[in-house]
Amino acid sequence: MTFREVEDKARSEWETLQNRIYITISTATCGRAAGALDIADLINKELARRSMEIPVIETGCMGLCYAEPLVTISKLESLRIVYHNITPELVPRLIDGYILGDDPCLELALGTLETEGENGPYIPELSRFEHELRLILRRCGYIDPKNIYHYIANGGYRGLDKALRMSPEEIIGKVKGSGLRGRGGAGFPAGSKWELCRTAKDTPKYVICNGDEGDPGAFMDRVILESDPQQVIEGMIIAGYAIGAREGYIYVRAEYPLAVERTQVALRQAKELGFLGDDIMGSGFGFHIEIAKGAGAFVSGEATALVSAMEGRRSEPRPRPPRLAEAGLWAKPTLLNNVKTFSYVPLIIEWGADWFSGIGTKRSKGTAVFALAGKVNNPGLTEVPMGTTLREIVYDIAGGMQNGKRFKGVQIGGPSGGCLPESLLDTPVDFDSLREAGSMMGSGGMIFMDEGDCAVDTAEFFLDFVTRESCGKCTMCRLGTLHLLHILEDITKGRGKMEDIDLLLALAEDVKGGSLCGLGSTAPNPILTTLRYFRDEYEAHIGEKRCPALVCKELIAYYILPEKCDRGCEHCVLVCPTEAIKGGKGEVKVIDQNKCSKCSSCLQVCPPEYNAVVKLSPISELPP
Ligand SMILES: Cc1cc2nc3c(=O)[nH]c(=O)nc-3n(C[C@H](O)[C@H](O)[C@H](O)COP(=O)(O)O)c2cc1C
Ligand code: SF4
Ligand code: SF4
Repeated sequence: MTFREVEDKARSEWETLQNRIYITISTATCGRAAGALDIADLINKELARRSMEIPVIETGCMGLCYAEPLVTISKLESLRIVYHNITPELVPRLIDGYILGDDPCLELALGTLETEGENGPYIPELSRFEHELRLILRRCGYIDPKNIYHYIANGGYRGLDKALRMSPEEIIGKVKGSGLRGRGGAGFPAGSKWELCRTAKDTPKYVICNGDEGDPGAFMDRVILESDPQQVIEGMIIAGYAIGAREGYIYVRAEYPLAVERTQVALRQAKELGFLGDDIMGSGFGFHIEIAKGAGAFVSGEATALVSAMEGRRSEPRPRPPRLAEAGLWAKPTLLNNVKTFSYVPLIIEWGADWFSGIGTKRSKGTAVFALAGKVNNPGLTEVPMGTTLREIVYDIAGGMQNGKRFKGVQIGGPSGGCLPESLLDTPVDFDSLREAGSMMGSGGMIFMDEGDCAVDTAEFFLDFVTRESCGKCTMCRLGTLHLLHILEDITKGRGKMEDIDLLLALAEDVKGGSLCGLGSTAPNPILTTLRYFRDEYEAHIGEKRCPALVCKELIAYYILPEKCDRGCEHCVLVCPTEAIKGGKGEVKVIDQNKCSKCSSCLQVCPPEYNAVVKLSPISELPP
């Protein structure tokens, strides 16, 4: 079949679907965690019970993770409505109300996809979407990732069709002209990397997609593979053609079973339709892709360590040069790019380098995908033009801070990045602005903190992570990060000395300079940025033995305010796991500080009308 014929078939399948009632449900990992599979199962059972034959299609993630499970009902000549936070009890209501009847159940709806007006919010006009520009997320949550025709009907494989009629040099010229920089962290210009691989003399050459994604708080690449794997595959095939490779690998961590499963199906379908194999679409060009499952270590995401893992060795980074473009997998020229980097390629080929470079900032072109996690109201996934400010992301897209609390900071780019404070909320997110602020784009994880989070404790969390994940090859990374961690532990436990701050700064420089790979050389970033922007908190921990955010256990105490305690109630006594709370019925309750494990249970159960349990810091403030 020619591409046109495949496209016609895909379009007609898609149109047939649009011309009938059908239901989609987001069953990516986030949806599953919220119970989407049970909802899908129940919908199928309820439809069968009513002898109704209506397709129920499992899709990927719309990026609205806070609203899962999400169910969309598409009805012929009627509204397409997205329902959110669907529970099993609501399923019969939706079926009887909107599928059998004419009641759109708007009280359960997040919004409509078709028309604006009186029918509840129009989804594309929700504040979040007004600030977004979805390029590589645009199909996520709307198509069935296990149906290649859905992808093709929505623009898929047009980029490859066009690319195969171009010369490899023309393709590389387009990628270069677009200004696309790698989305795996360092932001290396993709086109230059492709050119290096193209001009490398040795053969065979390989293409590798890096889907390791080991940073805490990051889930962008998983969502793309679970929601729209064909676009990654298409980008890789174009890359293979451009550099002269015949084999490609998608490296995904084994802890992402759904991403692996959906990518496997996508590869099989692409092969069946002739987009992969020996003679792709009759062009004479052959390309094959396999999945390489990784064992999920942060360091395995580093390019040379990843190659080492694929060769069956320990995933330890090695010095560069030689670069992977010269000597990568099996010492052959290898092009390694991130999941998102490959995803942009079909669009750049189809819509042009100028179109892409017209989006974003001077040196950071296109869009950036971020995983929003932490204390915001609407965690999830977003795609925004480069240059969008942090403030827009926090307040317009992520819905502001939970419980009306104050924004304190955002850790960007996982452990390699840094923590930016409220005063930098107007920083545009792009490679250079973030680096200037002391952080970095990294792979795109953002963890938001409010006034209840402690800057020193946050730095300790990330240091603890990198010490465990260090491959141990470099002394400075293996022992230097551990030493940094021990100093932070001393500070959070009230054993810190003022000289520790200078020691942290000096050791941070040594660790940066003495580490072979990015893991070690960026490990001190969370310390350096929290010291730069929240130094007063370090000083309070050390000088006053006080944790201003009331987080560090050794520096806080739980106390029951006698004047507020309702003597008749015993909630705290019953819940305390260490029997630290004394006082019988009718008596004021008192916490025995020697027995208290600081689990916070009493604070959580004390009824809001009394609010008698408080946290104090420093401990010396405890009344006798
Ligand atoms: C410790 C460490 C972990 C990394 N993890 C990832 C990862 O999970 N995914 C990724 O694409 N790049 C990761 N990188 C960056 C890769 O080394 C490499 O730069 C990137 O995959 C290249 O693709 P790009 O040019 O498309 O960004 C990591 C780097 C370091 C130092
Ligand atoms: S910096 Fe750390 S993770 Fe990187 S090679 Fe050295 S020891 Fe291994
Ligand atoms: S739960 Fe609160 S009000 Fe009740 S006994 Fe404990 S401290 Fe007093």
